[in-house]
Amino acid sequence: MKYVVGPVTDLPPGASTIVYPDKVKSGIGVYNIEGEFFALKNTCPHMGGPLCRGKLRGTSASELPADRQPEVHWVRQGEIVSCPWHHWEFDIKTGKTIFESRQKVRSYPVSVESAEELKRLEAGVETVPVSVEGATVVLHV
Ligand code: FES
Repeated sequence: MKYVVGPVTDLPPGASTIVYPDKVKSGIGVYNIEGEFFALKNTCPHMGGPLCRGKLRGTSASELPADRQPEVHWVRQGEIVSCPWHHWEFDIKTGKTIFESRQKVRSYPVSVESAEELKRLEAGVETVPVSVEGATVVLHV
């Protein structure tokens, strides 16, 4: 099933929103990371916290050059979401924890569709009141 999130212009790079399709009562977080869209279930696999209400952040990465001192860099700013309950951190692009574990939050495909494509699919689309002009972000639930 397709769910209209809204116009692409309402979700610029670095922005996110939480939508509530009928099939996923807890909601789904939709993220624009440098023009690419990703979606995660708003339920943390740890203890069910509202994951997508968490802060966006980055993470550290180390570099061990043979001829210099080791260096630590801050990387991937805005690509990691930190659960507000116990601060487990998840990679928005994969849904996996950034630490070693088998825990993963459910992710959903997101597409960007033209107004014409969207009109063709209208019969099977659950919609929210938005003005559809130009490209639209659509969640595949
Ligand atoms: S419920 Fe998310 S870290 Fe515990």
